[in-house]
Amino acid sequence: MPVSPARVAAFEILLRIDQADSYASELLHAQRLAKLSREDHGLSTELVMGVLRWRSVLDQRISEYLTQPFAKLDLEVLTALRLGAYQMLFLDRIPNHAAVDGSVELIKRARKRSAAGMVNAVLRRLSNDFHFSQQQREGGHPAEQLQLAAHPQWLVERWAEVYGAEVTEKICAYDQLAPKTTIRINDCELVEELRREGVTLKPGSLLTSASSADRGYITRTKAFRERRLIIQDEASQLVALLVGKGDSLLDCCAAPGGKTRILAEQNPKSSVTAVELHPHRAALLKKLVPLENVRVISGDVRRLPLAMKFDRVLLDAPCSGTGTLARNPEIKWRLKLEDIPRLQAYQLEILLSAMNQVAARGRLVYSTCSLEPEENSDVIEKALSANSSFRVVDCRDELLRLKREGELATEDMDRLLSGPYLRTIPGVHSYDGFFAAVLERN
Ligand SMILES: C[S@@+](CC[C@H](N)C(=O)[O-])C[C@H]1O[C@@H](n2cnc3c(N)ncnc32)[C@H](O)[C@@H]1O
Repeated sequence: MPVSPARVAAFEILLRIDQADSYASELLHAQRLAKLSREDHGLSTELVMGVLRWRSVLDQRISEYLTQPFAKLDLEVLTALRLGAYQMLFLDRIPNHAAVDGSVELIKRARKRSAAGMVNAVLRRLSNDFHFSQQQREGGHPAEQLQLAAHPQWLVERWAEVYGAEVTEKICAYDQLAPKTTIRINDCELVEELRREGVTLKPGSLLTSASSADRGYITRTKAFRERRLIIQDEASQLVALLVGKGDSLLDCCAAPGGKTRILAEQNPKSSVTAVELHPHRAALLKKLVPLENVRVISGDVRRLPLAMKFDRVLLDAPCSGTGTLARNPEIKWRLKLEDIPRLQAYQLEILLSAMNQVAARGRLVYSTCSLEPEENSDVIEKALSANSSFRVVDCRDELLRLKREGELATEDMDRLLSGPYLRTIPGVHSYDGFFAAVLERN
């Protein structure tokens, strides 16, 4: 029996995510998927993101019906089981027999024919089990328990300690739903062009130039293909706006370039130097941000070959990404507790180096999309005790500036702050979890 192209694509993507540490969002937008019909692309996205979002819950249910140890399952077999279980337990529109048959066929295609009987038996037994209703998944008890269980316990425990139980539940609930598709757009002609392609927009809640898709698919529009617009969460846009105006700007960890683009647009007469460690990502940045005032350098911020100093520097540091789990659910299963101190040491090293590039009375914005204090305020404190020529600028003043400049849509700035820092929390806010600190050189 032929298996649907959507299930084949989802199966292959899930395998690559586990085998090659790839990112779901990148694979789902890769060129090879462009040949899928709109419906198939939608179903593959739903399957990949759903399996990744609910993986621990699915594994728990699968293991209840196995007659062999869970740890001994081949990755292909486990992936087919997860796909089948996800469709049966979480999707309302797919009949159980289609989910079971699809997974059995995937296993045969993957040349694991000997496991087909076992996959069939486990999924059939599971299909007699209960289905999680939408209400159970998204609201009310026991939704909270299910949403918490869809995260590694160590993460839930540390968030409960840092943010409290109520906020932790909100973060976990937010992570389990598809986030909004947000863009930065202030061109009426482009809005009209999108509308002609079936995309209607609604205004962002944080920024006046941000909009999210109300109807239609931005990623399928000509403007998206031609890179005239990019998808970028509102909190990420806000971080770039915090950098402000300068004659010379440096974006230290720049690819894929969402923030570089905003820096260049906000400073059309100034030059923006964008540094990126990985050459292939630097090449991607060049393609995605083809603006005249942007110069891309492939290099390591810790060993910058630049003699000049800059009056505005952005360091959007590599981080755990725990503020973006709704968008990147694979991070939940990859990240380990011991990664956090390792990331902190790296972030501190990069930050101290970036600070050396700031001109007198110049400013540096340090940001991450992590919820972990070790990667955020702790890095700032350590950097300031190693280099006392900087002070922390209160982000409130920068938000007031953005309000005066007409960029900020919200009135409620205190909700965005934690002490002098910007702190957004998914679920508390309706955008990704970003941290930012503004430092000024004496
Ligand atoms: C969080 S991402 C940046 C996202 C980007 N600012 C944006 O808004 O599109 C961090 C980037 O830093 C790069 N990176 C990591 N270590 C680096 C280093 N030592 N020097 C320069 N870039 C680095 C990574 O390859 C990655 O592309």
